Amino acid sequence: MQSKAPFVAPGAGAVFQLELARPYRVIVAGDGARVEDSTGKRYLDAMSGGSMAATLGHGRRDLIDLVWEQSRRVGYLDNNRLTNPWQEFLAAKLVDLAPPGFARVRFVTGGSEANEAAIRAARMYHVARGEPQRWQIISPAQSYHGPTMQTLALTGRPGLHGAFGPYLSRHRHIPPSTDRFDATGQQALDALDEAIEEAGPESVSAFFCEPVSAASLPAYSPPDRFWEGLAERRERHGFLICFDEVVTGIGRTGNWFAAHDLPIVPDVIATAKGLGAGYTAIGAVLYRDSVYEAIASAVRSFSLGHTWDGSPLPCAVGLAVLGILESEGWVDHVATRGPSLRRELAEALAGNDLVGEVRGRGYLLGIDYVDPADGRSFLPPELGVAGRIERAAARHGLLVLGTMPTRDGFAGDQHLFAPPFPTPDGDLGEMVERMAAAVEEVAAEVRDELGSNLSPGGGPSSELRVLIVQHEDPTPAGFVHEWLVDQGADVETYRIDLENRRVDPTRYDLIVSLGSEFAAFDDSIPWIDREKDLLIEAHGSDVPILGLCFGGQLLARVLGGDSHRGELSEVGWLPVRSVDEDLVPQGPWFQWHFDTFSVPPGGDLIADSEAGPQAFVVGRSLGVQFHPEVNQEIMDGWVEAYRHELDDEGVDPDALLEETRRLASRSRTVAAQLLERYAEDIAGLALPGRRQDRS
Ligand SMILES: Cc1ncc(COP(=O)(O)O)c(C=O)c1O
Repeated sequence: MQSKAPFVAPGAGAVFQLELARPYRVIVAGDGARVEDSTGKRYLDAMSGGSMAATLGHGRRDLIDLVWEQSRRVGYLDNNRLTNPWQEFLAAKLVDLAPPGFARVRFVTGGSEANEAAIRAARMYHVARGEPQRWQIISPAQSYHGPTMQTLALTGRPGLHGAFGPYLSRHRHIPPSTDRFDATGQQALDALDEAIEEAGPESVSAFFCEPVSAASLPAYSPPDRFWEGLAERRERHGFLICFDEVVTGIGRTGNWFAAHDLPIVPDVIATAKGLGAGYTAIGAVLYRDSVYEAIASAVRSFSLGHTWDGSPLPCAVGLAVLGILESEGWVDHVATRGPSLRRELAEALAGNDLVGEVRGRGYLLGIDYVDPADGRSFLPPELGVAGRIERAAARHGLLVLGTMPTRDGFAGDQHLFAPPFPTPDGDLGEMVERMAAAVEEVAAEVRDELGSNLSPGGGPSSELRVLIVQHEDPTPAGFVHEWLVDQGADVETYRIDLENRRVDPTRYDLIVSLGSEFAAFDDSIPWIDREKDLLIEAHGSDVPILGLCFGGQLLARVLGGDSHRGELSEVGWLPVRSVDEDLVPQGPWFQWHFDTFSVPPGGDLIADSEAGPQAFVVGRSLGVQFHPEVNQEIMDGWVEAYRHELDDEGVDPDALLEETRRLASRSRTVAAQLLERYAEDIAGLALPGRRQDRS
């Protein structure tokens, strides 16, 4: 490294970075729980190398020597036709450390490959047992299992799916049973029952989850009732349970596997990071004997492997890592020191009203931030609180990982705190202090920024409660969501495809039904009836409804109109003919629809286009066909995902994006005008006030 600059600037250098708009800190050395950047500044590493892999800390001489010695003896051998003692010993050792009943292990190169091998094993198990119709996987929506297409499909976070939608298998997801949504775990079980029913119990292959979540919901694990209910359903329906222990395996939670601490034994465990401890790339998949036997009795091969699977170098490192953990007692240490570390962190953060919860097991701790206004809601995403704390921590010489809200509704700003196991007490104390200082620094700024919305007693500031109903593969919340938050609205999201809650619409001042890729006349969509019922009840209770695109079509139906596939499709930035330009400005409005609606009886048409009605008002509700929620990010995603549809319509995707960039700010202005006029003049809502005073 020639340069002494502490960062590689956004877009600079030849590396195709994951986040193109952020500067990347350059780290050049590490020892123990400390790393050093290119200017010589030292940081405490409370993230074990950033991704929780460096469980034994940096620069261990014994592991470095072992890498050298093993490479000298034999570093690489194929696993297709050959085996080696290190692979054999490591497999036997992992079987010893696993929960009872585990008998076989396959090695891979990392976490996603391990999860992929778990998915493949579950499928092979069912095919081997004569049930080839079993392929569907059910998993918690708020999760992370890796960036490969199958592992990405296991998460229900459209924000992560991005442009890859067309490549992802359609698996089913359930909401997480966090305190916020479902403290007992019963709703998650109900959602699981429903997902099994919808999939058809005979077609479910596996339930796939992290026993304790890593980045997606730091250090969260469902209550025992959920695990017990899951085990019962496995018994009843015959699917397998796969645990993603990519982070939690090999000591992170104070046991060899987090599965040891739960009232359930999975059928397959995938693990990775801590097995190589940051000294090699290795993952492993552990199979229960029953899974192995079923497959082995029917077929003669496990299908395909990767070049580096089970090679001597990574396996020798894995063996040495397990040896060090055992001989130096680090797993026991994490089990006993973890709870006091969590307490110290909680005490240091106590009194900071931005901190909702400090949770975790062993050395996998999570901090959940909340809006001080009510001590419960997520913070407005545009404040970027987790990212700001991460940057403040770095200024204080501490590396932690913040995960920002993805607008999917299940998680807000949060932090992981996961130091290497051998971190000395003095360094742990210093990490806790620096973390508390960083959180306090940002909390002071945020309180100021939120200040105008806090009532003097610190009670809830917002009188405008809004429920946004979102769907599977939904339009991610865009401009409308942002606008509502900017008005000081208390916005709650309901993932109606995942959750089946009893919603009392009278608790809200406004219900927003968002766009979706589904057609509102497709009654085979399982949650359409539930959404219709909710809208009917809201309308009957005089709760205004803002229906956007799909939501507009559904609103038309609910009110006695029609939604159907139209004669003419419209895709692009088009003007509309407005009956009242003060209410619906000329545009630009973005439209991407092949379906259309009719104005329901008693309603007023307020805008139309060649393709038919574009907006109507009935009572206090507004239905629109076009997309006021569109923003640049959403458009980028749509254009990537649906290029084929654009091609079919003869629309040039790049020109469309270019036009979006050009029209974005004008389209936001007109959308804000429509929303404001609608909220104040038609729905009769008092907007609590804009947060314009935020910098
Ligand atoms: C829980 C979990 N599963 C899977 C993965 C993917 O592992 P890898 O990045 O090694 O493919 C990660 C990575 O962060 C993870 O945290």
